[in-house]
Amino acid sequence: MLLGGLFSWLSLLFEPLADSYVPPIQPQDRLRPENRPWQNIITGVYGYPPLLKIHDRTGEISWSFRREDVTQDLPPAIKKCLWAHSNDATEIKYMHDGKSVGAVYADLAMVVNHLPDDPVNDKKITFAVCRDNKFLWNAHTVEALPNDLFAVGTTGQRPWDGILVYNASAANPLVDEPPILQNITGLRAIHAMIWDEQEQILWATGTDAAADGSDPVPAYGVVQGYPFDAATGQLRKDDRYIYRLPNAYTIETEWGKGYSWWAGPHDLVPVPNERKFLVSEDRGPHALDLETGEFFMEYEDVIEKYMKGFEVTTNDRHGVNHTGQYEELPLSDLKSFNLAPDGAFIYVQSLWTKFRGFHISLVVDGHRRKINLGDEMYRARWWGDMDGWPKPK
Ligand SMILES: *[C@@H]1O[C@H](CO)[C@@H](O)[C@H](O)[C@H]1NC(C)=O
Ligand SMILES: *[C@@H]1O[C@H](CO)[C@@H](O)[C@H](O)[C@H]1NC(C)=O
Ligand SMILES: *[C@@H]1O[C@H](CO)[C@@H](O)[C@H](O)[C@H]1NC(C)=O
Repeated sequence: MLLGGLFSWLSLLFEPLADSYVPPIQPQDRLRPENRPWQNIITGVYGYPPLLKIHDRTGEISWSFRREDVTQDLPPAIKKCLWAHSNDATEIKYMHDGKSVGAVYADLAMVVNHLPDDPVNDKKITFAVCRDNKFLWNAHTVEALPNDLFAVGTTGQRPWDGILVYNASAANPLVDEPPILQNITGLRAIHAMIWDEQEQILWATGTDAAADGSDPVPAYGVVQGYPFDAATGQLRKDDRYIYRLPNAYTIETEWGKGYSWWAGPHDLVPVPNERKFLVSEDRGPHALDLETGEFFMEYEDVIEKYMKGFEVTTNDRHGVNHTGQYEELPLSDLKSFNLAPDGAFIYVQSLWTKFRGFHISLVVDGHRRKINLGDEMYRARWWGDMDGWPKPK
């Protein structure tokens, strides 16, 4: 360790231009663990109350949010939804250069300040919409858009499900029912969304028909892009950006004979600095090349290339599938995962026949360890602007 540190320090001396574009932090400081990038992770912990926390690779917490932390006055409906008997901490997103967190928390979809150096404004909710209605009750994901717009995936099975867009400008007061600026229907069961700054597209992953089996056709996993039109400030539907997985699968292997749901996507994850996504569905991950529009890799091959060191959470992930055949699904139920540019990655794999996981797996240099043991979790993400995939400015 010491020797490695010394060598990289020496190499900085002999290559004065390397890394010199990072003026505020001196070389010696950059070698300190807390200054290395991709040390911080944000996790949503289910419970009463639910908890959002930012912590390092060992699990040491540097910031957290619970509803008890809220001291501002809230409009009555928002207050009721914040304090609802709900254990949800379903989504957590890096926003505004790290100055806020987008979240699905209790019965709200919201934006909350992350300003640890400004205690007066820290943990202040700057936008919120209630989820206790037929559109948003199951919302699983949010994402920031340009012009302070904020997208919420409704994560439902009806034709009118999709994405609702709100104005999340902090200049607007909180209100019980913030106006919907855009209502984009058609994509069911949206579980994840990613802003694409390079192409100015909001990408979402969901299914093309009802994932719960209530449509008379199988549901296929889909990655769909909605180009953002700067002139109108609106997202557009565009058939050129619909990428459908080649197969639809039942999930009887995990949930038993006659279970009506179809395998659906859970997380949509950019490959740092590449025009590629990884998308996990109930059975395992797939890789999508945005330049060719092809799903070019699936399951073990994705693990081999992008997630070396992945280990199954428990060894009981097997059962009998729709055609009566025994199968092992060690890559199933990756509810969230995230790649860092240095090759490290994190994942939350829910326990077999459970909806959530109970630790985060962190893989560094191909070596896995567990952190946040005992937390009930759905999502954990790197806390930072991903290389090649920055959030909107
Ligand atoms: C969105 O539009 C659809 C189709 O017009 C409509 O059925 C649905 O009620 C709208 N959703 C909201 C939240 O207004
Ligand atoms: C959002 O709200 C801000 C603050 O009131 C306003 O300046 C902006 O024009 C609004 N954006 C849209 C698209 O309505
Ligand atoms: C059932 O499992 C077998 C063995 O893994 C596999 O070859 C087959 O494609 C599966 N069928 C379905 C419908 O999932």
